[in-house]
Amino acid sequence: MIENICCIGAGYVGGPTMAVIALKNPHIKVTVVDLNVQRIKDWNDSDLHKLPIYEPGLSEVVEKARGRNLFFSTDVDKAIDEAQMIFISVNTPTKTYGVGKGMAADLKYIELCARQIAMVSQTNKIIVEKSTLPVRTAETIQNILDNTGNGVSFQILSNPEFLAEGTAIADLESPDRILIGGNETPEGQMAIQSLVDIYSSWVPKDKIITTSLWSSELSKLTANAFLAQRISSINSLSELCEATGANIVEVSKAVGMDSRIGSKFIQASVGFGGSCFQKDILNLVYISKSLGLEEVASYWEQVIIMNNHQRTRFATNIIKTLYNTVSGKKIAFLGWAFKKDTNDTRESAAIYVADQLIEENANVSVYDPRVSEPQIRYDVKYLNSRSEEKNSKHLKVEPDPYKAFEDSHAIAVLTEWDEFRDYDWERIYKSMLKPAFVFDGRNILDSSKLKAIGFKIKSIGKV
Ligand code: UDX
Ligand code: ADP
Repeated sequence: MIENICCIGAGYVGGPTMAVIALKNPHIKVTVVDLNVQRIKDWNDSDLHKLPIYEPGLSEVVEKARGRNLFFSTDVDKAIDEAQMIFISVNTPTKTYGVGKGMAADLKYIELCARQIAMVSQTNKIIVEKSTLPVRTAETIQNILDNTGNGVSFQILSNPEFLAEGTAIADLESPDRILIGGNETPEGQMAIQSLVDIYSSWVPKDKIITTSLWSSELSKLTANAFLAQRISSINSLSELCEATGANIVEVSKAVGMDSRIGSKFIQASVGFGGSCFQKDILNLVYISKSLGLEEVASYWEQVIIMNNHQRTRFATNIIKTLYNTVSGKKIAFLGWAFKKDTNDTRESAAIYVADQLIEENANVSVYDPRVSEPQIRYDVKYLNSRSEEKNSKHLKVEPDPYKAFEDSHAIAVLTEWDEFRDYDWERIYKSMLKPAFVFDGRNILDSSKLKAIGFKIKSIGKV
């Protein structure tokens, strides 16, 4: 029976997942560790508004479990030593150097974790891969553990996370399924059972499925690839709608009502973002290429190509519509996060659209309800090696949206935050330069209402 769990990595996955596991299993001590001292300090802050990540419902869960059986710490060795089960929940970004650059997952953080676990462990442990990993990573981890350890034995499990940011707590509390992959040996099956027991505290048994390690690892990549593919499919049709006069919202509704297709994940947008979709597809492409499966690789690569095209197309449309020049023109951005209800900006379309407009010397003025100014500045700087001076001249961050609109030529909606619908659009119209344009990259605004006020509105997939 597991009584002590450690999770390495206190990020968007590790934090919420462990908070819910601790909440539902009061008899298990759960310690979340991270190298990032500030992050741990924020998780421990008595002011729950200061938690390092924003997720609806998260602070309530942390409030109940923290200090009872949920702990956040920087003492990685101690937590590893005491735990019977260790979740690895560190980031696996796309490699930015060497072989597989721009495609393969960078496993350096995973390897470091494995080495540290091997060095510290004096008792047998179950290691759970939580981060999304390329197929057969478990083999690498097993190799490091067996060859550098102190002779204790390790069982590796793959338990991929399917939560989506912004709905993490709801997804964790009532998941569609829990997937656990493990070795087919008796020891492997025992390890699987101990993790099944933890989830059984709140997840119905028929929703917990067990597979081999490799099937589990590949299922995670595949699930994300399928979801992203739906978005690229609908986004490709959004361009066709604009060219033919069809309306993507109507098309999407009509298509989605076919129960074989379903209505979810066919909302046209300025392009998908987030830490998973692009990375996982690139990974799938890389694995396929490495195995000589060229057709499989290019099939999935097209999903990324379409997504990049959708971002560029959105920015180009703004430039074209504003009479082919945005130089010196103020453009207000509504939203910076990659989707609503999160402060995460990884791979957000907003970054790429802003980048293209700044290159054209536009003055971009950003408002997002949850993303901090340093994060926005970092995102733009990280993407492009433009001078600090140009970035600070052409990028402003406004804590008050109405300030962002003042004297602007256009508004671009990049994130679908609910509050944008309820703004005082008459007041906004008055404060803008004319003609006042709105580019709705999320199709969330009532275009007939805005047109009646006087706005010129262009939404994705509509004329
Ligand atoms: C995704 C998966 O959904 C989740 O199961 C996995 O564990 C991690 O990756 P996440 O990246 O947090 O989750 O968010 P998700 O809700 O999937 O959205 C991804 C992107 O697609 C966002 O930028 C979102 O705005 C966009 N999107 C989503 C669309 O453009 N259209 C849609 O119809 C749905
Ligand atoms: P995710 O969305 O996958 O949770 P994040 O970047 O939000 O990704 O979180 C990953 C966390 O893992 C970061 O806070 C990072 O500091 C932490 N981390 C990475 N490597 C290690 C390590 N070797 N030991 C402890 N923490 C680590």
